[in-house]
Amino acid sequence: MKNSILTVIACAALAGCMSSDVKVSDFDSIREFTLKNDNGMVVKITNYGATITSIIVPDRDGNMADVALGYDSVEGYINAIDRPYFGAVVGRYGNRIAKGKFSIDGTEYELATNNGENHLHGGNMGFDKVVWDAEVVEDGVKLSYLAKDGEEGYPGNLKLSVTYTLTDDNEIVMHYEATTDKATVINVTNHTYFNLAGEGSDTINDHILQINASKTTPVDEGLIPTGEIADVTGTPFDFRTPKEIGKDVDADNQQIKYGPGYDHNWILDRKGDGMELAATLYEPKSGRVLEVITEEPAIQFYGGNFLDGRLIGKSGKAYKYRSGLCLETQHSPDSPNNPEWPTTILRPGQKYDTTTIYKFSTK
Ligand code: GLA
Repeated sequence: MKNSILTVIACAALAGCMSSDVKVSDFDSIREFTLKNDNGMVVKITNYGATITSIIVPDRDGNMADVALGYDSVEGYINAIDRPYFGAVVGRYGNRIAKGKFSIDGTEYELATNNGENHLHGGNMGFDKVVWDAEVVEDGVKLSYLAKDGEEGYPGNLKLSVTYTLTDDNEIVMHYEATTDKATVINVTNHTYFNLAGEGSDTINDHILQINASKTTPVDEGLIPTGEIADVTGTPFDFRTPKEIGKDVDADNQQIKYGPGYDHNWILDRKGDGMELAATLYEPKSGRVLEVITEEPAIQFYGGNFLDGRLIGKSGKAYKYRSGLCLETQHSPDSPNNPEWPTTILRPGQKYDTTTIYKFSTK
């Protein structure tokens, strides 16, 4: 196996700016792409799992740190004993489907049950564990994958791509597109774990989070939505004004106990169906800010409750309990079994087309 790296220097979307400081590595067909913008922000992506492996951004004094949890090499992702989906695209259905079953037009489909009795993040060989085709595009990389009819139990040959670009406004733009030849369900999202103090820092409970949502989808002990829609007012789930995550993370609340902690889906308070700010994360010591902007109707905030210190990250530090968090833009979990919710069905002739942005700044 050879091992090298392919580097794309991203620059502003200006004519003549396309540059190509390119080191290529092959790990057979597995590659890593390095995008760098004019501010020195660096984002690394591999086509194994369409995974963001690194996000290096400045703090308020200009000190750079990698704020994305992950391993120090692509082999780490492939060989991981315990796979927490670091940085990957998860799907065909990101999040859970109750008992791995759903129906479309009267036909019942049965998926892998890889999370207790439920289906999670696409099954045993979800999109996080396959090698995507890769093509360098202006300021980024386009990764494509053909998920076959019947793969992990899902109907339809699904042609999917995600295009990652890095802008000079310190935005990672993630544009997903898909078509199918048979009615299917799709709900893909990025599963990056952030710690804005730098990966390997002790906790995310000192981060300040705001989520523009006044409703959640409460879950049962298997983290499957009950079908109820709950108001966040007066609960630990009210992040409409910025709140320290640690404030209510261990509150005496049944939903928090099921997490345990935060692992829930918020229905966004949207004005329309375009790009809107869903969540803002702020780490007071470094001053780093992450804004999540999306077209999706909901967001899963997962507070790293299953990290337990066993995984050693890219800089040699153990990833402790709640030392990384995910903000996964998506449709609500188990939407295929809640037909009154926004649909996740994609039919032949339709195009799945959705964008989410991670935008970094400081204050
Ligand atoms: C998600 C889920 C969590 C957990 C992680 C992976 O975000 O909501 O319950 O399964 O993925 O560890």
